[in-house]
Amino acid sequence: MNSVSKSFLRRGRLPTEMDKQALEYTSSIAVDKEIFEADLKVTEAHVAMLINQKIIPSEAGAKILSALAKIRAQGYNELAKSSFEDIHEAIESKVIEMVGEHQGGWVHTGRSRNDEVATCLRIRLREYLIEISESLINLLQTLLEKARSEKDALAPAFTHTQIAQPTTFGHILLAHFNALARNLTRLLEVYNRVNQSPLGSGALTTTSYNIDRRLTADLLGFNNILDNSIDAVGSRDFILEAMATYTLLATDISRLCEELILFSSDGYRMVELADEYSSTSSIMPQKKNPDTAEVARARCAQIVGMLTAAFTLCKGLPFSYNRDLQELNKLLWHSSRTILDTLKIVEKIVATLKVNRSRMRQLVEQSYSTTTELADTIVRESGIPFRAAHTIVGLAVKKALEKGIEPNKLNLKMINTCSKKVLGRALNISEEAIRNALDPATFISRRRVEGGPALETLSKAFSDKQLWLKEKIALIKKVKTELEKADNKLRKTVAEYTTPTVS
Ligand code: ARG
Repeated sequence: MNSVSKSFLRRGRLPTEMDKQALEYTSSIAVDKEIFEADLKVTEAHVAMLINQKIIPSEAGAKILSALAKIRAQGYNELAKSSFEDIHEAIESKVIEMVGEHQGGWVHTGRSRNDEVATCLRIRLREYLIEISESLINLLQTLLEKARSEKDALAPAFTHTQIAQPTTFGHILLAHFNALARNLTRLLEVYNRVNQSPLGSGALTTTSYNIDRRLTADLLGFNNILDNSIDAVGSRDFILEAMATYTLLATDISRLCEELILFSSDGYRMVELADEYSSTSSIMPQKKNPDTAEVARARCAQIVGMLTAAFTLCKGLPFSYNRDLQELNKLLWHSSRTILDTLKIVEKIVATLKVNRSRMRQLVEQSYSTTTELADTIVRESGIPFRAAHTIVGLAVKKALEKGIEPNKLNLKMINTCSKKVLGRALNISEEAIRNALDPATFISRRRVEGGPALETLSKAFSDKQLWLKEKIALIKKVKTELEKADNKLRKTVAEYTTPTVS
């Protein structure tokens, strides 16, 4: 049975309490832990602006501001003890409890929970985007260092999971660097679109009070305001965009983990995870399993899943605010934390990875992976078209495999036997040219084209990437300084408008 409502939100229009189960089911208070601090800031900026615009009595504003400071000091847990629809209601209720309704009752003048929550979400997401970008930079830096120390480590490169051509392990690691680095660019782009203020949009059509949206935006460190109030409270593409970027990032991390798992498996044995990131079996004493990378791969799957849930939630919603949007927050925070934790752990896995150079060399030497270079050499030396050379070498490999001849034992005689079959004549090429072409080191050193594994090409790439990372680090530092400045301004403004005591 419903009892008479004690809620200041319900007591006018809905004078009975909400059903307890329904309140628990619909409340976001647990998830709103993420935006507790953001909501205090948003409320402070809003109240300071209301005082500044002479919309509320300065005395009431001052009391509210000092109540907010007290609430901050008491912390989220104190507030979450009672049941509320959300953190916004909880904070307003606490303010009223602390300073009385005749003063505290002014706090929500000219705003709605709709613009309030949208602002809080953007503030918290900004912090996550910065933290995630910083963790990604750490991973990129570690990958770059590892790639540098493995720049001359001969390694097999795969297509279709079959050994294709030789390269260096540094070249392989740098491929992962490039893929992951694009996500850093994406994260920083998303940040700019997140960093716009919806505050002042009210429920959806702004307000008739003479509010100053630019002032609150400035105090909260936003670059701009969103210029349509319905869009400002109803849009969540900033969340979808962030989650989509996490998903692209997670896909690349998962592929990196997959390679580490595969390359550490018994068939490959190219790398080994440090003991600290591995597990053993409860029954098979010899086992060393790459569990941490496997869990990271699985967490990446969850990020994809949450994105699917988020898009599905949004796609059928009319503008502007619908309570469904509250459920999106849960997905956003969960995927933000998941990608953050995953980045941190994968960085550690890469930093401590052991690379088995002799095994990688063995894999290259056992394969016929230099024969692309042999075909190319035949083209250059004897002037025949590539397709003919490809056929001749293909035939030679087939024969060698049938007779159990090792890759580096392919010789002029065998090549010419095949050439006679294809062209009806022997080739004008030396034994030495064939020997050189089959050498994996030569294969690599000849690939000096931009993007290739030759040492000088790779070294240039390393310094370019290092410079690129430095620029991004500087950019993030600038963004953080801007936020700090805004925060100091907010603190100063709040102090100016606050009376020292709350009874
Ligand atoms: N807890 C809500 C959310 O996260 C806050 C906005 C509530 N607005 C409303 N009209 N019920 O979305």
